[in-house]
Amino acid sequence: MFVKAALSLLSLSALAGSALAAPFNPATQSLDRRYLSFDNWGGYSSLDNFDNFYGVDNFSGQISEQVVVEQQEVVCESVSIEIVQQKLLVLQEIAKQIITEQICQVETQTIVFQQYIASCSHFSSDLLRTSGLEAGYDSSIVDHFGSFYNSDGSLSTSDLGFSGSDIGQNVIVPSSNWNSETSPISVGNAFNAAMGAITGQTF
Ligand SMILES: *[C@@H]1O[C@H](CO)[C@@H](O)[C@H](O)[C@H]1NC(C)=O
Repeated sequence: MFVKAALSLLSLSALAGSALAAPFNPATQSLDRRYLSFDNWGGYSSLDNFDNFYGVDNFSGQISEQVVVEQQEVVCESVSIEIVQQKLLVLQEIAKQIITEQICQVETQTIVFQQYIASCSHFSSDLLRTSGLEAGYDSSIVDHFGSFYNSDGSLSTSDLGFSGSDIGQNVIVPSSNWNSETSPISVGNAFNAAMGAITGQTF
């Protein structure tokens, strides 16, 4: 086990984050600046204790260090892209299910979804290897997936027993073909091409 401190290439990761957290809205962003705490924001009781998860003034729960667990090496194994796209779409629809079935207050649905997108978007700079963090996942958090649903198929309401601050404590880094000579440029090109597809520009 070792702790890896992040290099603070904050501007680049912030850029990557905001590009993914579309639609970009200056009004929301300034709102974000004014309300460093979302506890009870707008007087909505469904936002009570919102800040407990990542801490005050830490809306997207950006982490700066990870504990990489050196256990049996996890080797990546390429499967067809459609299999991957199917799984990611399942996760997307589960997120929508959780937000619409387990939050009734519409303002809270919006705030929590934006937090989710912003939190996900930090992975962009891990994949670009500009965050100083490894491109991997927290296996202890993944382990909770089995407790999502009750046996009747409904979403579980039980406390999974962890907090946002637990993220990054048991990180597995699968092998990849990252080449420190050539990948910074080729992966940067891939990122720009994808951004172009999102914004409608070509690169
Ligand atoms: C933000 O939240 C993440 C995840 O809980 C945590 O690792 C990080 O230290 C927090 N950052 C600050 C500035 O509190």
